[in-house]
Amino acid sequence: MKVTGGEGGKILALKIAKYLDTEYIDTLSRTFPDGEIYVRVMGSVKGEDVILVQSMGKKPNKLLIEYLLIADTLKDLGARNIIAVIPYLPYARQDARFNPGEAVSIKTVSKLIEKVGVSAVITVDMHLHRFKSIQAIFSVPAYNLSAMGLLAEYTASEFGLSKPLVAGPDEEAEQWAKIAANALQSDYLVLGKTRRGDYEVEIRGKSLAVVQARDVLIVDDIISTGGTMAKAVEALKTAGAKRILAACTHPLLIEDALYKVLSAGAEAVVGTDTVPSPISFVSVAPLIASFLKETVL
Ligand code: R5P
Repeated sequence: MKVTGGEGGKILALKIAKYLDTEYIDTLSRTFPDGEIYVRVMGSVKGEDVILVQSMGKKPNKLLIEYLLIADTLKDLGARNIIAVIPYLPYARQDARFNPGEAVSIKTVSKLIEKVGVSAVITVDMHLHRFKSIQAIFSVPAYNLSAMGLLAEYTASEFGLSKPLVAGPDEEAEQWAKIAANALQSDYLVLGKTRRGDYEVEIRGKSLAVVQARDVLIVDDIISTGGTMAKAVEALKTAGAKRILAACTHPLLIEDALYKVLSAGAEAVVGTDTVPSPISFVSVAPLIASFLKETVL
C-alpha cells in the first residue's frame, strides 16, 4: 500500500504515510499558461492499493481537476484500489436547488469524484445538512470522520476551559456541537441563523440566559467569510458569556475572516489542518490514519 497526495494534500499525505509506516509517493503539478493543469505521479503504483489525499479548500476548482487527473492516472498506471481521502470536500453547501434551475453542486462533484474509479471516499466533517449522511451522496463506500472531539479537547486544554458550554451557530451545527460537548462531558446549545447574502447573516437565540457567566466554545464545520462565527460571538457576548472561544474543522478564512471573529470578541480561534491556515493547530492526520488502519485496510 502507498500514500500519495496532490497540492491540496501533500503534507497530510506525508503525515498519514508516517503514521501508517508506509511509502509516500510524490506528485508533480503545474499550471500551463492557458490555465490547464499538468500532473505527474513520481513512483510506481502497479498492483498497489493507493491512498490519494487531496483536500480541496481555497482553490476548489483547481484542486478538484488535479484530483481527477491524479486518480485517473493512478488507475491507468495499474493501481489496484484507490481510496480517496478528501478532508475538505467543497461544494457541499449547495446541496439543494434553492431556486429553479440551480445546480445541486454536491451531486455533480461527488459523481466526478467517484467516476474516476475510486473504491472508497473518506472526508472529515463534511457539510451534511439536507443530505443526512455521506452514503446518500456517494455510491461507493464513503466515511465521514469528525475532528470535533479533537478540536474541543485541544481548545479546552490549551485555554484552560473546564466544561465550557458548547454552542453551534446554526441548526446544522447541532451535529458538531453534540460531538464537542460529548468530548468535554459538557452541555450545548444551538443558535438560529438566517443568511442574507454571501457575507451577511443574522444570528438569533432563544433562552440565551444560560450563557451568563459561562465560558463558551462555539464550534462549526467551516469558517469561510467569518460572518457566521462573528455574529455568533456577538450574540453570546451580548447575552453575558464570560470567555468565548471559537473552533472549526475547515478554516477557509476568506479575506479578513479571522479579524472579524477576533474583533467580535472571541479570545482565540482554533482550526485543523484540513485547510492550511494560521490557526491550523490540530492535525487530522492521526484521525485519518487510525481510521484507515482499523476500518479500511
Ligand atoms: C454553513 O451553514 C456552514 O456550516 C458555516 O456556518 C458557513 O459556511 C460559514 O460561512 P461564513 O463564515 O461565510 O459565514
